[in-house]
Amino acid sequence: MNNIILIGFMGCGKSSVGVRLSYELRIPLLDTDKEIERQRKAAVSEIFEKYGEEAFRNMETECLIGLLKDKDEKIISVGGGLPLRSENRALLKELGRVFYLRVSAETVCKRLAGDTTRPLLQGENPKEKVRELLGKRSSIYEAAADVIIDADDKGFDELISEITGKLEERK
Ligand code: S3P
Repeated sequence: MNNIILIGFMGCGKSSVGVRLSYELRIPLLDTDKEIERQRKAAVSEIFEKYGEEAFRNMETECLIGLLKDKDEKIISVGGGLPLRSENRALLKELGRVFYLRVSAETVCKRLAGDTTRPLLQGENPKEKVRELLGKRSSIYEAAADVIIDADDKGFDELISEITGKLEERK
C-alpha cells in the first residue's frame, strides 16, 4: 500500500511532522494513538491505567489491521511502542513506506520535560527511563524503517523537505 508511515520514540516529532506533511502533501493524517483514543473514548494514559500495557498493545495491532482495509492514501503516525511487536512491523511494511524519525535521548528529555501524558515515562527518574527504553528500542526502529531521518536539531522545513525528497526519489 501507498501510505507514508512515521515511527520513532516518544517526543521525536511524529505527530507534528505528520500534521505539517499532511498539509504540504494534501494527504489526510491518521495518528494511531488518537484513533485508539477516539474508538475507546479514553486517553492513552487511562487505557494503560485501567487495562494495562498489553491491552493497549493489542489495540495498536487491531488498529493497524483496520487500516489495511482502508485503501485511501494516508500519512500514518504511530505510537512510539507500536513497532516493538514483530507482527506490527510486518503490518507497517504492508501498509506503506516507513520513515523513522531518529532523535537522541537528550532531545527527547528536553522536549518531554514535565510531560504527564506518557505513562511509560512517569515516576522517579524519567531521563533514565528514556535512556533505557531508547537503548532497547533503537535497533528495532532501525529494522522497521525503510528510511531513517536524523531529526535532532532540524526544523520542520528541513525535515519535510528530506521526507518529500525521499518520496520523490521513488516516483
Ligand atoms: C508509547 C508512546 C506513546 C503512546 C503510549 C506508549 C511508547 O505515543 O502510544 O504512551 O511505548 O513509546 P507517542 O510516541 O506518540 O508519544
